[in-house]
Amino acid sequence: MSPAIGALSPKQRAAWWALEDCGLVILEGAVRSGKSVAADHAFVDLAAHGPQGNLLLAGRTQDTVIRNVIHPLMDVFGEGEVNFNRGSRELRIHGRRVYVVGANDERAQEKIRGLTLAGAYVDEASTIPESFWMMLRSRLSAEGSRMIATTNPDAPLHWLKRDWLDRADELGVGRFSFRLEDNPHLPDAYVESVKREFTGLWYRRFILGEWVAAEGAVFDMFDPVLHVSDELPAMQTWWLFVDYGTATVTHALLAGLGTDERLYVAREWRWDAKERRRQLTDAEYSVHLRDWLASGADGAYRVNGKPAPVQLKRAYVDPSAVSFSAQLRRDGWVKPREAENDVLDGIRYTATLLTSGRLCIHRSCAHLIRELTGYRWDAKAQERGEDSPVKADDHGVDALRYGAYTTRRYTRRWLVYDTTKEAA
Ligand SMILES: Nc1ncnc2c1ncn2[C@@H]1O[C@H](COP(=O)(O)OP(=O)(O)O)[C@@H](O)[C@H]1O
Ligand SMILES: [Mg+2]
Repeated sequence: MSPAIGALSPKQRAAWWALEDCGLVILEGAVRSGKSVAADHAFVDLAAHGPQGNLLLAGRTQDTVIRNVIHPLMDVFGEGEVNFNRGSRELRIHGRRVYVVGANDERAQEKIRGLTLAGAYVDEASTIPESFWMMLRSRLSAEGSRMIATTNPDAPLHWLKRDWLDRADELGVGRFSFRLEDNPHLPDAYVESVKREFTGLWYRRFILGEWVAAEGAVFDMFDPVLHVSDELPAMQTWWLFVDYGTATVTHALLAGLGTDERLYVAREWRWDAKERRRQLTDAEYSVHLRDWLASGADGAYRVNGKPAPVQLKRAYVDPSAVSFSAQLRRDGWVKPREAENDVLDGIRYTATLLTSGRLCIHRSCAHLIRELTGYRWDAKAQERGEDSPVKADDHGVDALRYGAYTTRRYTRRWLVYDTTKEAA
C-alpha cells in the first residue's frame, strides 16, 4: 500500500472484506466519504487473489473511468500491480486483463455481450443504464466471480435503489452506506467548506447520502437578493451562451468572467417566434445578435458608469443548432462552439455556482430570472426513478446551463468540490 493512503477506516475495511463473502458489494453515500478508495483496494485484491478469468471496469464513459479510477489506482499502486497503457487504453492489474468500458447509453450492453468475467468494478453505478448492469450481472458466470460498485445517491425510485440496495438482505448483496464522517482523512475545514457548497436536494444526497426525490424548484437556492445584481465588475473574458429554436424561442446570454471571480450574465436577448409571429432565418439571427451586442442599448455592461468594450471570445451554442453555428462561422463576428449538453451535470454545476455565490445575473435579464425561479423537476419522471426537469419555459435556463457547464474549466477552481470532476 502506498504512503498516499493511510489506514483504511472501519467501514472501508468492512466493505473490502465483504467482497470475500458476497458476490456483489455496493458502496453508496456522500461524496469524498472514502467509497472509491475502499473499492479500489477491494478490486486490486480481487485481481490478485480472485478466481481466474478476465475482469471489467465500467463507468459512465471511458474517460470518467480513467479519471475516477485508473489514475487514482496508478497513484496508489505500483507498476507491478497496476499497468495502464494510455495509448491502447489497455489495463492490467496483477497481470490480468481488465476491460475498460464506458456505459452511457442503452447500446452499451452490446459491448459486453458474450464476455465471460471473473470480476467487475462499476464506478458511478447510478449513472449507467440498467440494461448494462443486468447484462454485466449475467456475464459474471465464472465460479466465485465478484462485483463491486460505488454510487452517489440518486432518486428514491431509481432502479439501483429499488431493485438492489433495498433488497440487499434478500439478495445477499453487501450494502455499505458512507457518510463524510466515515472518512477520517479529511481535514475538518475541508469538510466544512464542502458542506457549504451544497443546499437542498444536493446537500441531502451528496453530503447526507440520502436517496431523496428531486421535486419542486430545480434552482431552489436561487435567491434574487443574493444572485441578482445591478452592478457589473470588469470582465476577464466575454462569452455568448445561446439556446436556439426556429419555431420556438432563441435565447442568448452575454456572460462575463468577472475579475472578482464570479460568472456574470450581463444581458439577455430573446426572440419568441410565436409571440412575434415571425420565424427568423439563421442569417437573420446572426445579424440581430451582432447588432444587439454592438448597440449596448440598455447599458448593462457599463463598468463604473462607462461603457466597457465587449470582445467576445466565443459563443457556446446549443449543440443541436448545427445550421445556426455554421452561419455564425460564415459570418465571422464570433467563434461558435458546440456546448456540452449533459442536462443533469449542467444543472448540478449551475446549482453549485449559485450556492457558492459564484454566479450572478444582471437585473436586466428579466426572462432568465423568471425562468430560474419557475424551473421545476418533473414529478412523472421521478416516479420512474429519473431526475428530469420539466421542459417548459426553459430557453434561458438552457442557455445558462450550456454556457456555465461548458466553460467550467475557467470557474471550477473557485469551487471546493466540483461534482463534474468526479462523482461517486
Ligand atoms: N484510508 C484513507 N487514507 C487516506 N486518504 C483517504 C483514505 N480514504 C479516502 N481517502 C482520501 O479521501 C478522499 C475521498 O476519498 P474517495 O474514496 O475518493 O471518496 P468517494 O469515492 O466516497 O468520493 C480522497 O482524496 C482519498 O484519497
Ligand atoms: Mg469516488
